[in-house]
Amino acid sequence: MIVTVSRRAHFNAAHRLYRKDWSDEQNLEVFGKCSNPNYHGHNYELVVSVTGRIDKETGYVIDLRILKNIIREEVEEPFDHKNLNLEVEQFKDLNPTAENIVVVIYNKLKARLDSRLDLEVTLYETQRNFVTYSGQ
Ligand code: NI
Repeated sequence: MIVTVSRRAHFNAAHRLYRKDWSDEQNLEVFGKCSNPNYHGHNYELVVSVTGRIDKETGYVIDLRILKNIIREEVEEPFDHKNLNLEVEQFKDLNPTAENIVVVIYNKLKARLDSRLDLEVTLYETQRNFVTYSGQ
């Protein structure tokens, strides 16, 4: 039996969407308010879903305490209350769009999980805007 187990998480972070090689006008045209040079914040919500076989011994796909700790170590501690552009290594040269953030989060979590487990990560930048990545 293949079951998907999910956990929600949350972090607040600031970002600015822009390309260093573009003018302020060009950035404003493409990224709108999100290119504000003084940064702005989002309340990011995360849904992490792990799919795999139910372990016969434990009855778990993954122990949710383990998943919770991995999310805390890989996402909440490094990202919460941070300026993503300035303080998070992965975004030094990568535009912190929701798309790029969800891929970074996916890769960090995937590296910590048993390779037999499938992972899908959904990141809400606002209640209405969200992105999903499952490793394709
Ligand atoms: Ni934004």
